[in-house]
Amino acid sequence: MKTPKDFFKPLAIGAPEPMREVPTKLERMIHFLPPHNPKMRTKAQSIADQVDVLLGNLEDAIPADAKEAARAGFIEVAQSVKLNGTGLWTRINSMKSPWIFDDITEIVAAVGNKLDVIMLPMVEGPWDIHYLDQLLAQLEAKHGVSKPIMIHAILETAQGVENVNAIAGASPRMHGMSLGPADLAASRGMKTTRVGGGHPFYGVLEDPQEDQSSRQFFQQDLWHYTVSKMVDACLTYGIKPFYGPFGAFDDEAACEAQFRNAFLQGCVGAWSLHPSQITIAKKVFSPDAGEVLFAKRILEAMPDGTGAVLIDGKMQDDATWKQAKVIVDLAKQVAEKDPDLAAAYGL
Ligand code: GLV
Ligand code: MG
Repeated sequence: MKTPKDFFKPLAIGAPEPMREVPTKLERMIHFLPPHNPKMRTKAQSIADQVDVLLGNLEDAIPADAKEAARAGFIEVAQSVKLNGTGLWTRINSMKSPWIFDDITEIVAAVGNKLDVIMLPMVEGPWDIHYLDQLLAQLEAKHGVSKPIMIHAILETAQGVENVNAIAGASPRMHGMSLGPADLAASRGMKTTRVGGGHPFYGVLEDPQEDQSSRQFFQQDLWHYTVSKMVDACLTYGIKPFYGPFGAFDDEAACEAQFRNAFLQGCVGAWSLHPSQITIAKKVFSPDAGEVLFAKRILEAMPDGTGAVLIDGKMQDDATWKQAKVIVDLAKQVAEKDPDLAAAYGL
């Protein structure tokens, strides 16, 4: 365990000072671009103009024989794209893969000053973060990178979930974490072939009642436990929790429901793997206008955040003031980017 005095020291001579806090930035969707595909590369600028984060995916879904092309394609996109505030991330290959070392070294050398975050898959424990942390510091020093590249872990193995707190607190370089429901399901031996979302067989059956021939079955959220555990770990360490992928592109309503559960539980965004999911994530991870207007009334009724008042029959006190502030702070960030929502929020 590193002592507090050393925790915020650069890990290499000449590397930038670690950040003390994750920058406040709207990251409602992390949009996955397959950069080995030339057609997708030509769309990169128009996608970057619509999303909060553009991510070049080098890991799963990229065929083994296209890994180098994806890396080179991402570098090309990163060099040419005009970001105007959009985040630039990459998902590199996993720690044990033959590609990870070149992914890290070539990308930091070429575009280290433009890259905000590296998403690291299959994180099992803090040791994975420590390795990447040290290597990034050495590369930042070597290539004159002026701001630390942050690390975002995918929570997608049973061991990773077991170590989630240690991962969240492993380094000041930690940006946040995403749920990886497909790999996690496989790692845990869950019996589902879906990428995120519910399962029709996972639920509870209502109690039997007299004169009732059929009993209702209520489907439950398979991911509730893991999302909650991840949210607690992330917020404990001041980093950001995200829902990950939703694979059923043909079921936008289910995607919206899953994203919304994550949002209500504390997540700040989700992955978009299809253009339709950009719209869904924008809708879900921007707070509801009715909630914002009510939250503003709470803040206005309790200017110093203490005491108790009644608004429309609902009790408000210091704790609800804090809840309201979470919503209004997020609404202010959204309003800066979206004039229509700014008007709806009255901001
Ligand atoms: C994402 O990487 C997942 O495995 O769900
Ligand atoms: Mg995965």
